[in-house]
Amino acid sequence: MKNFYYSIPTEIFFGKGQIKVLGDQIKKYGTKVLLTYGGGSIKRIGLYDEVVNILKDNGIEFRELGGIDPNPKIDSVREGIKIIRENDIDFILAVGGGSVIDCSKAIAAGYYYQGDPWDFLIRKANVENALPLGTILTIAATGSEMDRIAVISNPETRQKLSFGHISMAPKFSILDPTYTFSLPKNQTAAGVADIMSHTFENYFTLNDGAYLQDRFAEGILKTCIKYGKIAFEEPDNYEARANIMWASSWAINGLLSYGKDVKWSVHAMEHELSAFYDITHGVGLAILTPVWMEYVLDDERVDKFVEYGVNVWDIDRNKDKYEIARLAIDKTRDFFKSIGIPMSLREVGIKEEDLEKMAKACTDNSGGNKIGNFKLLGYEDVLSIYRKAY
Ligand code: NZQ
Ligand code: ZN
Repeated sequence: MKNFYYSIPTEIFFGKGQIKVLGDQIKKYGTKVLLTYGGGSIKRIGLYDEVVNILKDNGIEFRELGGIDPNPKIDSVREGIKIIRENDIDFILAVGGGSVIDCSKAIAAGYYYQGDPWDFLIRKANVENALPLGTILTIAATGSEMDRIAVISNPETRQKLSFGHISMAPKFSILDPTYTFSLPKNQTAAGVADIMSHTFENYFTLNDGAYLQDRFAEGILKTCIKYGKIAFEEPDNYEARANIMWASSWAINGLLSYGKDVKWSVHAMEHELSAFYDITHGVGLAILTPVWMEYVLDDERVDKFVEYGVNVWDIDRNKDKYEIARLAIDKTRDFFKSIGIPMSLREVGIKEEDLEKMAKACTDNSGGNKIGNFKLLGYEDVLSIYRKAY
């Protein structure tokens, strides 16, 4: 196991009714709030009114930035920074999913920077500080509620990039599983696929001796498989929603990658799909994952797939190694299908003629280097994976 520094600073208030802490939590950090949200789901489920009433009851002044899109755009970040500067705001409350939270993190960091916030994404500037931020999560997926990362899109340059800094980690997150009951089935499924993909990115590494981290990862994967299906079929099953929500936070907050040499690859490939086509992140991941698994499976990596097949899918350890690996990959694909996710790039509207451009962008965005490290992937590899997924 490699050396590591453990720091997961976000306070979590988990469970039904935890919104009761909201007023006191905000008052620990600020006096004037920017309330951020997406396209209206929080209004439909009554959460917007609940939050506004709490702010008013606590005498907390606020401004709003609504309409943040899925795959949040840099323009919303610019708009948020402007509102904050014009209104002397000192705290951001993000109510929604990864898109709202990521946009809010970028606003929080951008406030302290005099240039254009896109500079952070293209590494022209580094984050030095961020305004304090709290979240109320409404979809279990990205883990943004407990990590320091923001993923922002720029439609003008057709790029979707990420950046992060410890100051961007939420000060607190309220995780009430009942807020996720209203999710449409496709978003529930995409969220589960995203959580599983974060776990895979951390799990599939070679010989790093991080035994404990990998058992945590398998626990998260088993949780997604068991409860993902239940949440998909019974949207208001509290136990299922609660387990998926907690899995979301732990898949990406650092726990699974500490002590390991982790470098993600399927996410790098997916971000080009959503940069070019604005598709749902988790859907892109679910399409690419089994294809990536088949592509990287070889003698050096087969034992890791055996570990996955035996420990996660309970496949008989006495079978041939490659048989176990292939069965595990088939089961992964079947699981995604069983929760209604389309399994080809064609089905989500991607045009074949763009595959080369996306593969080029994918490797360009990693500075021309190969992506991943379980198996290094260059332009030709990425293109092959896109083609096989088509
Ligand atoms: O906009 P509203 O009306 O709120 O609707 C949203 C949106 O249409 C809807 N929704 C959310 N909660 C709901 C609900 N509908 C009904 N009831 C509810 N309770 O769901 C749709 C998707 O929301 P979004 O926030 O986009 O989903 P998600 O949380 O999956 O976020 C995706 C974004 O996060 C990035 C992705 O790339 C994508 O841009 N990621 C962020 C990461 C991070 N910060 O660490 C890591 C991830 O790998 C990922 O890249
Ligand atoms: Zn993801």
